[in-house]
Amino acid sequence: MKILLINPVFFTLSSFLLKNTNTHTLIPMGNNNQKSSCCSNQSMEKSESTAPEDDSSIYVTRNVKNTPSNSRSLVMSDSAKQTSSAIYPDLYEGHFSSLLIPYKDLDSRCKEIAEHIHATYPSDEPLVMLCILKGSAPFYNLLCNHLSILGHPFMIDFYRVKSYEGTGSSGTVKHFGDLPKSMKGRHVLVIEDIVDTGTTLKSLLPTIAEKDPKSYKVCSMLVKRFHSEGSEDDDEDDGGEITKQIELDNNLIGFNIPNAFVVGCGLDYNEMYRDLRDIWILGEEGIKGGGYDL
Ligand code: XMP
Ligand code: MG
Repeated sequence: MKILLINPVFFTLSSFLLKNTNTHTLIPMGNNNQKSSCCSNQSMEKSESTAPEDDSSIYVTRNVKNTPSNSRSLVMSDSAKQTSSAIYPDLYEGHFSSLLIPYKDLDSRCKEIAEHIHATYPSDEPLVMLCILKGSAPFYNLLCNHLSILGHPFMIDFYRVKSYEGTGSSGTVKHFGDLPKSMKGRHVLVIEDIVDTGTTLKSLLPTIAEKDPKSYKVCSMLVKRFHSEGSEDDDEDDGGEITKQIELDNNLIGFNIPNAFVVGCGLDYNEMYRDLRDIWILGEEGIKGGGYDL
């Protein structure tokens, strides 16, 4: 097992490690205490290209100009020192290009999201927490743990879909089994690992609506918002947001990330790396390795 040992003075919620010389710094800029109604049904509209006023999610970016002025950011800086610790198996040595989000920050963001859920959903009826397998399981665990600490009642349910092969969307979404019956007449939170093109949710949400829930919303650990570095579309100054097909509530989004392929905290590359506590950007070595043989 490898442990990256880092200066503990900097090991705070406001500091993030990028391997070698890159670092993320959390800059609190917005008010995170705004309430929003839980009870409107999710619609399938195109999202706004600019962030809404009440943006409480966190943007992971190399340039803070890319983020809405009222948002919080994890800024990747070239000059900062390593500021966190990360653990990974020897098997994965050299597979990552950088550490994107340390576990500690994932956990504290889950706490914030759980507090928002507790403040906006009724406490006299169970919220259906629907985990979309497999990738969401660790995030789901963290979130449910914080809801339990808050004493918020919820029901646990699972559903499996698959759309990715390797590092790209296959374009089709495979559904496994039946959606749980628990959703009828109840508030439902669909817990996702990552929203990329929106293809998965576009396929999933109408089937949830058919189950006649009181309301349903998506809660996702990550959303890919920015163009990838080095891609045709990349321009660190333009902050170009990838248009999502799904309306998302920023209070229920963990982190907005650049358009890189990420692994860890449930996210995999051909079933590899789900076991990592932290979230990493997969490097060339990892991609060449191809994940596990299935
Ligand atoms: P769509 O495009 O359907 O993608 O919104 C969502 C699903 O695709 C997978 N996905 C990823 N998995 N690293 C991963 O390990 C990534 O960077 C990534 N991007 C998308 C994931 O299963 C997600 O539910
Ligand atoms: Mg998923």
